[in-house]
Amino acid sequence: MSKPTHNRLYHDLAYLWPLLSPPDNYIAETNTLHQVISDKLGKQSNSNLQVVELGAGGGHALFHLRDHFDCTAVDISDDMLHHCRILNPNVKTICADMRTVTFPEPQDAILIHDAIDYLTTEADILATLQNARKNLTPTGILIIAPTYTTESFEAGESATDRQSSHELDVTYTTTVLKPDPDDDLFEMHLEYHITHLKDGSTSVERDIHTCGLFPIPRWASLLSQAGFEPELYEESEETAWTLFVGNLP
Ligand SMILES: C[S@@+](CC[C@H](N)C(=O)[O-])C[C@H]1O[C@@H](n2cnc3c(N)ncnc32)[C@H](O)[C@@H]1O
Repeated sequence: MSKPTHNRLYHDLAYLWPLLSPPDNYIAETNTLHQVISDKLGKQSNSNLQVVELGAGGGHALFHLRDHFDCTAVDISDDMLHHCRILNPNVKTICADMRTVTFPEPQDAILIHDAIDYLTTEADILATLQNARKNLTPTGILIIAPTYTTESFEAGESATDRQSSHELDVTYTTTVLKPDPDDDLFEMHLEYHITHLKDGSTSVERDIHTCGLFPIPRWASLLSQAGFEPELYEESEETAWTLFVGNLP
């Protein structure tokens, strides 16, 4: 297993997360997740279904699911889980690596949303999918949603946004790059211009995230190798991801 990367946004800059990626950004995607879980596992007993998000970060996606399911958030960064505990007091939290985490009880649905981008090798993806399979009920489902696949990736894509609270004003730019055309990686370069409004101090911070980039057939093959029947969901214009469901045979 490769060493987990240390991304500043999830550690020393984690205080920016609630401002930069607020829960409202997750509405369209969590509507789809809710729909898929309900369709696959039955609409009647929703609140009793045990649902885990691996790499749940600040719990912004779980904010929209927590009242429908019995939710658990897993993340390798306790700085991120700190936000999740404040936002979602009814969600259980486990600070652990998604490749090896275990649960006291089997889960009905395991979600790996934007955090799956941080698995950079096939071996790490397979370890995570196999571990998820071990932690599911016999009728459970796995949902994975990489932000980019080789098919959807466009090197050089860039976006700038600005967000303010009563304490902070942050302008930040995100650019995705593909330094080596022959490997399975892409880089996300982030630059934050931060003003602390109480004392007027400013700083510029930079952060580079190394992420995995794999074609759709490779995702499907890895799901099969881990014992799932892979199902590719149709893209919707509102969701920025490629969604796969891993069904158990
Ligand atoms: C984009 S953030 C997730 C945001 C989250 N979906 C939310 O709603 O707030 C990605 C998260 O993946 C976590 N992560 C990366 N690698 C991980 C691993 N191997 N195991 C568990 N968490 C991991 C990071 O710590 C980070 O919090």
